[in-house]
Amino acid sequence: MKGKFITVEGSEGVGKSTNIAFIKAWLKQKNIDVIHTREPGGTPLAEELRYVLLKNREENFNPMAELLVMFAARAQHLHEVILPAIERGQWVLCDRFTDATFAYQGFGRGLELNLITELESLVQQGVHPDKTFYLDIDVAIGLQRAQARGDLDRFENEKIEFFERVRQGYLERVAQEPDRYIVIDAGQGLADVQHDISAQLERLVRI
Ligand code: TMP
Repeated sequence: MKGKFITVEGSEGVGKSTNIAFIKAWLKQKNIDVIHTREPGGTPLAEELRYVLLKNREENFNPMAELLVMFAARAQHLHEVILPAIERGQWVLCDRFTDATFAYQGFGRGLELNLITELESLVQQGVHPDKTFYLDIDVAIGLQRAQARGDLDRFENEKIEFFERVRQGYLERVAQEPDRYIVIDAGQGLADVQHDISAQLERLVRI
């Protein structure tokens, strides 16, 4: 039997890492063989591309170039790691995937959404996450948390308006495809967030 492909999305400072660790531990406790990976990244080559994407630099990173590098990393990760794992029957828990490209490069940078859809078809050939946890938080609160962590990468250094557009992008995508997304209110205390996640995982493992 094929494994499930689960992604976790949200804007900066939403608590993705903590909650991904929680989801992974929860699944393992149910004896589900799960691998945890991330985008951009997830293979040595794709992690090099991540470095290129996240590094602060003087030169303007052209949005189209950024988009193509993002999908180059995704092609490598999807075909070398994600798909083989799913074929072996493992579940894949991925920290961000193409929803982030629509939110950041589409809504954030203002690139044509149709163009992203075309690249998505080319690279993914019909492969999409089975379920996506979208952790939602007020942008200002999320940014405060991210800034408290210290050194900011090229994305984290964007203005608040950029992240407002990113959040709007996620919310629009959730509205378009409500069956795939599980929306979690990440503004609650951690215990409440994880209570909600557990309830959703209970349903997911029964499908
Ligand atoms: P992370 O902070 O969640 O590890 O992700 C790295 C950054 O990359 C984050 O600011 C969002 C950004 N990103 C995009 O802009 N487009 C994408 O497709 C992905 C996967 C991430």
